[in-house]
Amino acid sequence: TRVLILNGPNLGRLGVREPDVYGHASYTDLVRKGGEWGEGHGFSVDVRQTDDESEMVGWLHEAVDSGAHVVINPAAFTHYSYALRDAAAQVTKAGLHLVEVHISNPYAREEFRHRSVVGPVATGTVAGFGLGSYRVALEAIADLVA
Ligand code: DQA
Repeated sequence: TRVLILNGPNLGRLGVREPDVYGHASYTDLVRKGGEWGEGHGFSVDVRQTDDESEMVGWLHEAVDSGAHVVINPAAFTHYSYALRDAAAQVTKAGLHLVEVHISNPYAREEFRHRSVVGPVATGTVAGFGLGSYRVALEAIADLVA
């Protein structure tokens, strides 16, 4: 089972960026832990980050074409990218799982973060548990494919 862990804009700055909101763990920590958690479920995991919408859309096409499940933190794209939503819809329509994750709890923050355009086409969403959101998402995929 292959899982892509995809991270959107500004997440490469984890640990440096607003630690009061996103914590002190770095993006390198996320890569390491994501790999460990995924491998713990027997997954082959690839952790990536981009600030570029077109690159993220391409990775979702790749998930469809290669049959990989997806854990995605779309970051700010969550709230406005219909291109990302349309790409995410192709993943779940292909029968693959796509779990949306957030480090913070967007519902406890500004109004513009309360809406996700990706959520309606995702298998499910995990938000508010720091890097633990990724751990829970990977466990959810493990349960679904068991
Ligand atoms: C985020 C929440 C988004 O609202 C924000 O734009 C991010 C990170 C999170 O992981 O909490 O960049 O997706």
